Amino acid sequence: MSKLSLKLGIIFFVTLFCIETFMMFFLHVSLTNSRVEEELASLQARGNSHRAILEQNFNLETLSHVALMESEAKTDVVITDKDGGILENSKIYPETEKYMRNLKEPIPHTGSILEDNWKKEAFIATISPIQKDRTTIGYVYMFQNTASIHALMERLNKHFLIVGIVSGLVTIAIIIILSRKLAHPLIQMKEATLKLSKGDFTVALTTNGQDELSDLSNAIQKLSDELKHLRQERKEFLSSIAHELRTPLTFIKGYTDILYKRDLSDEARQKYLAIIIEETNRLARLISDLFDLAKMDENSFVVAKERLNMTEFFANIEERLSPAFQEKQIHFTVQCEDKLSLMADPSRFEQIIINLLHNALAYSAAGDTTIVHVKQFNETLLITIEDTGKGIPKKDLPFIFDRFYRVEKSRTRALGGSGIGLAIVKELVHAHGGEVTVRSEETKGTTFELMFKGVGTNDNNIIN
Ligand SMILES: Nc1ncnc2c1ncn2[C@@H]1O[C@H](COP(=O)(O)OP(=O)(O)OP(=O)(O)O)[C@@H](O)[C@H]1O
Ligand SMILES: [Mg+2]
Repeated sequence: MSKLSLKLGIIFFVTLFCIETFMMFFLHVSLTNSRVEEELASLQARGNSHRAILEQNFNLETLSHVALMESEAKTDVVITDKDGGILENSKIYPETEKYMRNLKEPIPHTGSILEDNWKKEAFIATISPIQKDRTTIGYVYMFQNTASIHALMERLNKHFLIVGIVSGLVTIAIIIILSRKLAHPLIQMKEATLKLSKGDFTVALTTNGQDELSDLSNAIQKLSDELKHLRQERKEFLSSIAHELRTPLTFIKGYTDILYKRDLSDEARQKYLAIIIEETNRLARLISDLFDLAKMDENSFVVAKERLNMTEFFANIEERLSPAFQEKQIHFTVQCEDKLSLMADPSRFEQIIINLLHNALAYSAAGDTTIVHVKQFNETLLITIEDTGKGIPKKDLPFIFDRFYRVEKSRTRALGGSGIGLAIVKELVHAHGGEVTVRSEETKGTTFELMFKGVGTNDNNIIN
């Protein structure tokens, strides 16, 4: 038996044992007392009835008649005169004289008990005074051997012992079952947490039931599932990082080798150097993105909000990104309502918009359109970035905000993003207390919708 159930069992047993012993003791004492009282009362009644007969006929014949009656019964009688002289008896009791000497007058007519110490004495005794014209003329002593009471007590003790043993055994059996039942889930949970602490997250606890133990069990199970999930995520995250770092490094190493070993024309040299610079930039961007994500995970990421003029902000974005869109022959327009402002961290807010616009640019082809709308809707700022590019398949849509998730699994250099742009967008939008949603249809295009509280106009104060 485990320590816990043993402890529980002992506590239960001691408590129940004390209660049972007390109850049995109480029952035994009251049974014995009432039995002895009954015997004494019947002895007294018998003496009183002899006394009544003798009061009517106090003569030798009645005396010997009473003695004869008692000689056949299990009780005995001794009849004395008022000074203690024995007139008649059914059996000789020398103690009569002792009682006569210690008699405390007056004895009530209903009689009194002379001896009730059945444990120590050989008999119990009562006395009934015989009265004539209100004066005592003699006494009826009644005696009963205590052997019968002792025999009765012996039988009673035997029964109590049997009942005690049986109830003790039943109690022990119930306690074992109960304490095991109670301790079992606790032991299971202890083992589960021990397993968790050793890094084994394959915990399966029984979680049905509605008591506190089941709640605890549920909580441990949840913790274990969560840890399992986290470990899996960390594994995937690390292998993705390794993969993402390896790709640009392979390019850089490959082209550097070529540049180093071969005699190349100036043109080829320029071409390879451009690739090396591009890949180095990509690597630097990736590392900076990862650094941002790490900071966000640690919650050490600070968003320093200030009031941003949306018209100016988006005019600047349009100016900076238009050449890239023009180069790919994509129509790019920004429509921003006048006088809008937002409480946001300028560089982080820019990172959100640029990441989304880079995607629109990367996943659209010549002839497509990208439109940015910025407007106020009730008390929120609504920004939509809509493109008519290749769109996102329905099955991929729920995952595109996950880290390293890409629709295009083959990492071609043309579409070679690392899949963390949107994860950063999501974190940054949440850090600003906003929401980001996406709608997309394959081949038709994609729309990202951003909603931020804290919108205001440039000439009045914040609405929210
Ligand atoms: N506007 C869009 N049109 C079509 N597909 C998109 C668009 N935006 C995102 N996606 C898909 O979602 C995936 C995840 O986008 P995300 O910006 O997170 O990563 P990425 O662009 O591949 O890499 P990077 O980390 O360089 O941004 C992309 O790989 C792309 O398949
Ligand atoms: Mg991207």
